[in-house]
Amino acid sequence: MTAPVDRTTQPWWRSAVFYQVYPRSFADSDGDGTGDLGGIRDKLGYLELLGVDALWVCPVMRSPMVDGGYDVSDPRDIDPLFGGLEAMDELIAEAHDRHIKITMDLVPNHTSSEHPWFTAALAAAPDSAERARYIFRPGRGPDGAQPPNNWPSIFGGPAWTRVTEADGSPGDWYLHIFAPEQPDLNWDNPEVAADFEQTLRFWLDRGVDGFRLDVAHGMAKPNGLPDLAEVSTKMLVHDDSDLRFNNPGVHDIHRRIRKVLDEYPDAVAIGEVWVDDNTRFSEYVRPDELHLAFNFRLAETAFTSDAVRAAIENSLAAVGPVEATPTWTLSNHDVEREVTRYGGGAEGVARARAMMMVELALPGAVFIYNGSELGLPNADDLPEAALRDPVWERSGHTERGRDGCRVPIPWEGAAPPFGFTTAAESWLPIPSQWAALTVEAQLEELGSTVSLYRMAIELRGVRKEFAGPDIEWFGCPADCLAFRRPGGLVCVLNASTAPIALPPGDVLLASARPEHGKLPANAAAWLV
Ligand code: NOJ
Repeated sequence: MTAPVDRTTQPWWRSAVFYQVYPRSFADSDGDGTGDLGGIRDKLGYLELLGVDALWVCPVMRSPMVDGGYDVSDPRDIDPLFGGLEAMDELIAEAHDRHIKITMDLVPNHTSSEHPWFTAALAAAPDSAERARYIFRPGRGPDGAQPPNNWPSIFGGPAWTRVTEADGSPGDWYLHIFAPEQPDLNWDNPEVAADFEQTLRFWLDRGVDGFRLDVAHGMAKPNGLPDLAEVSTKMLVHDDSDLRFNNPGVHDIHRRIRKVLDEYPDAVAIGEVWVDDNTRFSEYVRPDELHLAFNFRLAETAFTSDAVRAAIENSLAAVGPVEATPTWTLSNHDVEREVTRYGGGAEGVARARAMMMVELALPGAVFIYNGSELGLPNADDLPEAALRDPVWERSGHTERGRDGCRVPIPWEGAAPPFGFTTAAESWLPIPSQWAALTVEAQLEELGSTVSLYRMAIELRGVRKEFAGPDIEWFGCPADCLAFRRPGGLVCVLNASTAPIALPPGDVLLASARPEHGKLPANAAAWLV
């Protein structure tokens, strides 16, 4: 059973509220200090109460966990750390009983260096069929001691590592856009595509409702692997001019993936697509490619009405030409949490609450990152010894990486680990100042952030005023924005420093209580 969602007759994912679970940090059911699938299952009641339609579960396949599961050594098994295959089957069944869909995170661009294919490639000769599943090249320079090109890894250092051949001599180099433990696959090799199709079917046959595809703009590489004109040493970012990503061949790959998904009515493929240009972005969501692609503009935007409006207009324009569905997200496991991005403290929380109401008022699919509903800030003062992101080591301890947004969820009680685990310590420490932010502390509190999320998600799901695929902008005071959905919902955001008069209508919900008909600064309201 899954059913519900049905907001009109559209496919479910067009208006779904997805909740992103970072499994290591959600809930620990076996007391080892790390979250797992049993933990997610234990918390399904909470997720049902929150009202989300679907989960995006970050990678739980077999992995040595060098990059938090994005280094997969067996894509058709669940890592024992997360409870094994049985735990996945149980999660799917129980989530479906509660009308919650499950989407998994798959990693088509690379494998773990512990994947049997890569171990075989290392053991095999240069130019062998085993090596042809990855991207091996001879080095440059007289003795091949220089990497084949100048590409840097997203996690710092070169994107190439040299191997030692069976006779002990230095050999070819292999490409890894991310960590050396994440060798890039060669998607020009039909075996790679065939294996990925097998993985898609494996999970779809087990009942999952779709996938988030990691680095969905990255699988195709440019012919001849030319040098980058300019090498940036900035980690974790790239732009549209970057040859490592967004090569035209990627679209054939997406068409192939879509053909498989089309055999499973209702299944969805959501791509991680870091592409700025709207035309190029829209190519990913043509009718025979991905169903949805993440648009990260709101997740990168500061709290000013101009920036927010530009991000919304841009995201709508990026899908308009191909009549695809817009997606909205304020944060995820790779970026700073929105409370911190908006300035932190009470102001950061107020702004994050307001922006949640803006994104839930928009047409399309919304992705909520676990912990956003609690108003969690980034934990930027984790002790250095606790840091796990490969970026920390690879940057020579100059970049702390993404651990600050991956800290476990505080569930209950007055001190860490706040019911997240029965172990004495969680895999990343939880700040003791989060006692007031626990789920337990917030659930009974009508004014809490979690209560606001619950009310907003419920209203969005049941009120007819949220209907229609467009928005119409309204005039409003400086540093504010207002738009109307065809169904009649009006959303007002006050990003200024003073209260503003609300337009006529009944207030359905507000992120801060209006006083004398005025909406406070750093707040949003819905009117009908
Ligand atoms: C994007 C994922 O979201 C990120 O966490 C991961 O490190 C890279 N892809 C590499 O798989």
